[in-house]
Amino acid sequence: MIVVLNFGSQFAHLIARRVRDLGVRAEILPGTASLEEIKALSPAGIILSGGPMSVLDDGAPLPDKGVFTLGVPVLGICYGHQAMAHLLGGKVTPGKEREFGKETIKVVAKKGVLKGLSAKEVVWFSHGDQATKLPKGFTVTASTPSCKYAGFMDAKRKFYGIQFHPEVTHTAHGTEVLKNFLFEIVNAKKDWKIKAVGEKIIADIKEEVGDAHVLVGISGGVDSLVAATLIHRAIGNQLHAVFVDTGLLRKGEVEQVSTYLKKHGFKGLHVIDASRIFLSKLSGITDPEQKRKIIGHTFIEVFEKAIEEELADFPIKYLAQGTIYPDRIESAATGKQASKIKSHHNLTLPERFGLKVLEPIKDLYKDEVRRVGATLDLPKELLWRHPFPGPGLAIRIVGEVTPERLEILRDADAVYIEELKKSGEYEKIWQAFAALFPLKVVGVMGDARTYEYVLALRAVDSVDGMSADWHKMPPELLEKISSAIVGKVRGVNRILYDVTQKPPATIEYE
Ligand code: XMP
Repeated sequence: MIVVLNFGSQFAHLIARRVRDLGVRAEILPGTASLEEIKALSPAGIILSGGPMSVLDDGAPLPDKGVFTLGVPVLGICYGHQAMAHLLGGKVTPGKEREFGKETIKVVAKKGVLKGLSAKEVVWFSHGDQATKLPKGFTVTASTPSCKYAGFMDAKRKFYGIQFHPEVTHTAHGTEVLKNFLFEIVNAKKDWKIKAVGEKIIADIKEEVGDAHVLVGISGGVDSLVAATLIHRAIGNQLHAVFVDTGLLRKGEVEQVSTYLKKHGFKGLHVIDASRIFLSKLSGITDPEQKRKIIGHTFIEVFEKAIEEELADFPIKYLAQGTIYPDRIESAATGKQASKIKSHHNLTLPERFGLKVLEPIKDLYKDEVRRVGATLDLPKELLWRHPFPGPGLAIRIVGEVTPERLEILRDADAVYIEELKKSGEYEKIWQAFAALFPLKVVGVMGDARTYEYVLALRAVDSVDGMSADWHKMPPELLEKISSAIVGKVRGVNRILYDVTQKPPATIEYE
């Protein structure tokens, strides 16, 4: 496996994903991980990521110098390249010019990670500092007019530094660079195959769980569905699932998921209709954070009651969760919790009921979760559903959530999504949904004036939801969607299309 040491780069995840896409297992550790932690993973190669700081700053995170004594190849990227120069006796100085964006490098030596590249290559830079003196034993492999040592290597010790980012698509032959490192230098094995990954997870669950019983919460989303399917394949009817219908889910979601699970032999599925409880607790509440809190707490209450009432007779030992890799890494790195509902479960349920936590997809990225799901024959329609927030439609109704508003929004959202699917646009969009404002405006129908709700349609292109661009929807399609919603859903007479980016806007409205 490859260890990626993360120095705070937004691209560290991308490096690990690219490595895995090339068939090699990759794990991310904090840049300052101890040598012991790194050695515990027995890496075949180490990649030092980029990062926002300067290696010259006081307190800049640096890798344990011992990584250069393990006898394994090391690739430094951007900040990692400078850290390598800095720690091995070279010199790094603040750059006179900042290089940012696309640049052309001159490949001075088509060797090492740059083997097979052309004399000139388009790459993506983002740096201020640069290496200005090579460490002993190193030779230059690439340069630009303003960065003499854009690439260097010590072929004997198998250390390689590149000032540019091979993991981003703007670097034309970035994949070749990573391939060279993995297969020419590290001689890594291609054993990260998605089918085998799924099979291994199933075998591991069998071994860990034995004849114990497992409880899983189904949310309607992809992660919990894939996690539950993997566990079901491993232990069949020893798995019990609780699906809380909060009344805040998308149209037909509860039926669709539960019908699918039942049809596929899921015997222990408990669908709890708690919509009335949620709605009555949300009555009169307008503050978004208070709504979130109420939903989180109510969810736990309902879930706990279901365990006590419906599952008391089963010897349940594990609580399974659909935690995925970025959830874990982000909460470890920043202390931030990825999903409040997921973390609530983690904190309260296992403790109260003396359960062990089982996280079958904790090492997978979202696209890998979907690919594993596909090897389990889960339908595309369930696997490729857009992300949906834990608090559901409650945060897509600005202000108070009422049964009337929920019904309007749920219907309008369903029409919107159906039109997107019919036109083939759905798959091009990262997340699309309708939102309702607590506002009635004038319209005209026949001879009469109407006062009805205003709806916003949101559709965004994004990679991870951290930043997003508004989706450039064809105008004819927008018109069709708008007519379809106003025609089919009573209570709406005006549709707006949201054209703000994140930042400064967010994806959701609350
Ligand atoms: P924002 O609105 O913050 O959304 O730009 C980014 C992504 O996060 C989802 N989101 C949530 N997910 N609980 C969740 O589980 C929440 O409270 C929550 N708020 C936003 C949102 O749908 C988008 O995918």
